Amino acid sequence: MTVQTLIVLDLLTGVVATMAWLGAGASAAARRAGPALALFGLAVVSSLIRVGVALALIPAGWWFVQEKVTLTLPLLVLAGLAAGVLAGPRLVRVVRGRAGSSSGPAIVVPLLGAGYAAGAGVVVTMLFGYPATWSTALVTVALVAVAVLVTWRIVSAPVPGLRAVSAATLAVGLLGAGPAFVPDGSTDTGGGPSEGAQAGGHVHHAQPVTALRGPSTPAAEGTVRRFTLTARTATITLSSGRRVAAWTFDGRVPGPPITANQGDLIEVRLRNADITPGVTLHWHGYDVASGEDGVPGLTQEAVRPGGEFLYRFRADQAGTYWYHTHEVSDRGVKMGLYGMLVVTPRGAVKEGADLTLPVHTFAGTAVIGDHDQPFQQQVAPGTPVRLRLVNTDNTPHRFTLGGTPYRLAAIDGRDLNGPGELGRTSLRLPAGSRYDLVFAMPAAGAVLRVDDRAGSLRLSPDGSSGPAPTEDTSTWPEFDPTTYGTPAATPFDARSRFDRRFTLVLDQGLALSAGRPLYAHTVNGHAFPSIPTQIVREGDLVHVTVVNRGRETHPWHLHGHTVLVLARDGRATTGSPLWLDTFDVQPGEVWQVAFRAGNRGVWMNHCHNLAHADQGMALHLAYEGVTTAFHGAHGG
Ligand code: C2O
Ligand code: CU
Repeated sequence: MTVQTLIVLDLLTGVVATMAWLGAGASAAARRAGPALALFGLAVVSSLIRVGVALALIPAGWWFVQEKVTLTLPLLVLAGLAAGVLAGPRLVRVVRGRAGSSSGPAIVVPLLGAGYAAGAGVVVTMLFGYPATWSTALVTVALVAVAVLVTWRIVSAPVPGLRAVSAATLAVGLLGAGPAFVPDGSTDTGGGPSEGAQAGGHVHHAQPVTALRGPSTPAAEGTVRRFTLTARTATITLSSGRRVAAWTFDGRVPGPPITANQGDLIEVRLRNADITPGVTLHWHGYDVASGEDGVPGLTQEAVRPGGEFLYRFRADQAGTYWYHTHEVSDRGVKMGLYGMLVVTPRGAVKEGADLTLPVHTFAGTAVIGDHDQPFQQQVAPGTPVRLRLVNTDNTPHRFTLGGTPYRLAAIDGRDLNGPGELGRTSLRLPAGSRYDLVFAMPAAGAVLRVDDRAGSLRLSPDGSSGPAPTEDTSTWPEFDPTTYGTPAATPFDARSRFDRRFTLVLDQGLALSAGRPLYAHTVNGHAFPSIPTQIVREGDLVHVTVVNRGRETHPWHLHGHTVLVLARDGRATTGSPLWLDTFDVQPGEVWQVAFRAGNRGVWMNHCHNLAHADQGMALHLAYEGVTTAFHGAHGG
C-alpha cells in the first residue's frame, strides 16, 4: 500500500471509528442494546485497523506518524480499552437479557468517551498535524476529559464536585494552549552556526538586497539584448477565435519571448500600464542576483500603474526557462502575466525546428501558446526537432509524444547526462517545470498530446493534417526522472558533509497567517509569514528534506538556486544527475535534495501551486547579513 493510501485510510478509519463509538453510546442511551452492541463491535474493529494503519505508516518516516504515536493513538487505545472493559461486558449482559437497561452511565459514558477520543485524533491530524506539541496534547486531552465529564453529568444524577473538576481541567487545557500563540523563533539555522556567532569576532556588515544587482556588461563574446515589457489588461483572441479577458505583457499571452545566447546581457524594462495590484518579473529557474529576482515586498516594491523597473542579468545558463509576475502571483500568472525565456548555448549552430510550447489553462481549457484547438506545424522529415514543454499552471500536465522515439535532453533547463531513448511513455510535467524533447522528424509525422487529448500538436512532414491520430495514450506508463540517463560526477552527493539540514513538512492545517487564523497550506505547522526563515551562509552545503503529509501535490520551488536531487522516498537517484528548480512532491513522498549556497540574497522558497503559496505555503531563505527594507507582507 502506498503512503498516500495509508494517509487516506488513516483518516477514513478514524472517521468510521468515531461514528461507531458515538453511535454505540447514543444507541445505548436510547436503550437500543442490540444496535449498540453491533456498533461497539464495529468501533473495536475500526479502532484496531486504525492502529494498524498508523503502525504501517511508521516506515515512511516519523513525520507521518508523530502526532499519532505520541498522542492520538494512546488516547484512542486507552479510551477504547476503558470502553471495552467497562461497557462491553455490561452491554452483552443487557442484550442477553441478564441485566436491565443499557442507558446507565457505566455503559454510555465510556462508549461516548471513546468516540470523543477517536474524534479528537482525526481533528488533531486534520488541524494540527506535524509537529504535535505539548500544548496540542494538553488541550486535546483536556477537551476530551471535559466532554466525558459533561456527558457523565448529563446521563447520570448530579456528581459532587463535577463542575469544579471540569473547570480545573479546562483551565489546564487553556493554559496548555498558551504556547501555541507564542511565535516560534523567527529563524531556522538548520543546525548550522547562527547570526552573531561570527568566527574571530569578524564584524559582518549588513548588505541590503537592493545592492545585490546583476552585472552591467555582457561576457566577452556576448551582446546586450534590450526588451521592454508593458503589463496591461487586454482581451486576447485564442486560435479558435475565442476571446478571453487577460492580464498581459504587451497585449499578448504568453508575453513576448525573451531569447538570448549564452553570455549575452539581458536588460528588461518592465512598465505597468494598468495592472492595479502591481506587477514584477521573476525569472523562474534562472539564478539571477537577488536584487533582480522580482519578489515584491522582499527584493523590490511591486511596480504600480505608471511605474517601471529595470532588470538586468547575464544569460549564463543555457536552456528553457520562463518569467512571470510575482505580485499576487496566483491571480497574476493565471490571468496571463508570464512568458518564455530561452537561452541558446554559446557556439550552438541553430538548425532544425525549435518549438517552445507553454501550456496554460484559460477558461478551463489547456492552451498551448495561444492554441486552444489542435494545431499543426510543418517539419521536413529528418529535421532535428526540439520541443520545449513548459507548464505555467498550478497543477501537473501529462504529455505524450506519439509517432517517434525521442530523448529528454533537459529538465528545468539543465542538460541530462546520457538520456536514453523513450517511446510510449507519458511525461508528468510538474507545475513550473520544463522538459526539452529531442528527436529527428519521422517521415510519417508525430503527435504531441496534452492530458491525452487527441492531437494537441501535429508535426506534419508535408503540411497536410493526415489521418487523425487514434491511439489511446492514457495507458502509457509514466516517466520517472530519478532513474533516467547515466550517472555522472557531481560536486557533492548524499555522502557529503552538510553544513545545514532543513526539513519542510508540508500539510494542511489551522495556522495563523498575519495574525488571522486560517485553514492554510502549512510548512511545519506554520503558514506564511510565520514560517521561520531559513538562514544560510555563503558557501554552505545545504541539505533539504521535503515531506508531503497532505493530500495534494506540492511542486516545490526555491528561488535563486538549482537543487540536486539525492533521493525520493529513501531511494537514491540512479540515472543522470538531476538538477531541478521545481520538484513535484506528491502526497506521501519524501524528497531529499541539496544545494550549494552560492548566490547571496533573500529568496522565496515556496510551493509553485501558487494558490497554495497564497494560502501560506511560502517561506524565505536568507543569507546571513543580507537585509531587506521592504515590508515582506505579500511575497507569495
Ligand atoms: Cu515561479 Cu516564486 O516562482
Ligand atoms: Cu502546494
